[in-house]
Amino acid sequence: MVWGGFSWFGLGLLVPVEGNLNATTYNDILDDSVLPTLWQQFGEGPFLFTFCQFPFILSTVVKKAIIQKDSEQQMISMARQSLVDKVSRRQRVDMSLLFLNIKVRRLQLVSDSLDELARNRADLKKKLKVTFVGEAGLDMGGLTKEWFLLLIRQIFHTDYGMFTFFKDSHCHWFSSWKCDNYSEFRLVGALMGLAVYNSITLDIRFPPCVYKKLLTPPVVPCDPDTPVGMATLTLDDLQQVMPDLAHGLAELLSYEGNVEEDFCTTFQVSQEELGVIKSYNLKPGGDKIPVTNQNRKEYVQLYVDFLLNKSIYRQFAAFFYGFHSVCASDALLLLRPEEVEILVCGSPNLDMSSLQKAAQYEGYSKTDPTIRAFWDVVLAFPLELQKKLLHFSTGSDRVPVGGMADLNFKISKIDASTDWLPISHTCFNQICLPTYKNKKELKQKLTIAISNAEGFGLE
Ligand SMILES: *[C@@H]1O[C@H](CO)[C@@H](O)[C@H](O)[C@H]1NC(C)=O
Ligand SMILES: *[C@@H]1O[C@H](CO)[C@@H](O)[C@H](O)[C@H]1NC(C)=O
Ligand SMILES: *[C@@H]1O[C@H](CO)[C@@H](O)[C@H](O)[C@H]1NC(C)=O
Repeated sequence: MVWGGFSWFGLGLLVPVEGNLNATTYNDILDDSVLPTLWQQFGEGPFLFTFCQFPFILSTVVKKAIIQKDSEQQMISMARQSLVDKVSRRQRVDMSLLFLNIKVRRLQLVSDSLDELARNRADLKKKLKVTFVGEAGLDMGGLTKEWFLLLIRQIFHTDYGMFTFFKDSHCHWFSSWKCDNYSEFRLVGALMGLAVYNSITLDIRFPPCVYKKLLTPPVVPCDPDTPVGMATLTLDDLQQVMPDLAHGLAELLSYEGNVEEDFCTTFQVSQEELGVIKSYNLKPGGDKIPVTNQNRKEYVQLYVDFLLNKSIYRQFAAFFYGFHSVCASDALLLLRPEEVEILVCGSPNLDMSSLQKAAQYEGYSKTDPTIRAFWDVVLAFPLELQKKLLHFSTGSDRVPVGGMADLNFKISKIDASTDWLPISHTCFNQICLPTYKNKKELKQKLTIAISNAEGFGLE
């Protein structure tokens, strides 16, 4: 039955329909980069259809490969299309039309990026190439990554106003203030999509329910009036965004006394928007309806829906359409919400010894005392410092889907006094060390550098 589906591809994979093969084993077989090849031949129709039904047998690595293959194909066909258009209109053809060229001024980063993405709306699936105005520089990946890092940092800064940061849950949430133009939320969605397509790991902290909403529905509905982001969310989801409030609501639900008399609450809630407290009725006439033991479940459900859906509906919808304007692949049907998060932000499972195995060196060799001291110190660091080291050198404390090897992590020698602290080039996942004499000195300097890095400008 289920496993028999494989023979549809005429792959010659001799997969017994019964027997003791389990999901792990299938992933091993499929991880052998068989799938991306398959995808090319069977990108449409029965292949996708089949896999949509059994996405649980694919690992995230394989799914990423599928999405990227899909995106490459879309990029190639977009590029081919623009080429054909030019030629048929007898216009001069240059290489730039094969790329999504983004040209921005550093001082107007957000508005320029917004304009550029809007202007290139039809080309979002081409390979991204970023230029900063007035700076020479070949984008070998470094500038693109820098653009992502700078933009994300500005947009998510609480002063910028688009997102609120909840300290308790350590995550960002959409600001609920009303405005007449939500195109910046669209930009954030598009950025996340571009990151997936261009294999960049973003340092974004959304709660899990954002990814659930992002996949409801997994592809953009044909009818633009169909509501999006309608995932069924509960108190547990709220718990991951606003733990205190969720806790209070849970207490209300389990309270054994008289809710109406002891809580004195109505179906009206208030929240702060741009420093002003505003009140909203959870249902018509809500300010006059007391919450009682009988209707408290309805109250909690309406409150959760208000916070996670209604109050941020326009913001989320713009964000949803932005993401799907880039990541419009049927392959998204394969993904679970937590896998989308891993594609966008990387995996939180650090394995420093595999980083050591994959590390490259410049000016140093594996056996140099400084390098040996470095790994001794890093492998002995507590998890918190290991994360900080990763953040310091790559701009994110998470690992890309392909694992540490995908990072191209590099340690370079700088000819500087050993009084200097290590420095990093986050855009190239590179850390530069002076030749520290001993482990103690290295540990001290490294710890200072990585502990103070957050919030400073990029190197
Ligand atoms: C799946 O099979 C592999 C190898 O046959 C085995 O090591 C693993 O424990 C199995 N996993 C489960 C969940 O049964
Ligand atoms: C919203 O803002 C963007 C960027 O500032 C602009 O390009 C767009 O025309 C605006 N849309 C509306 C409806 O005002
Ligand atoms: C979410 O909000 C939208 C817009 O306010 C509303 O139409 C919809 O009913 C809400 N979803 C749910 C599940 O209530």
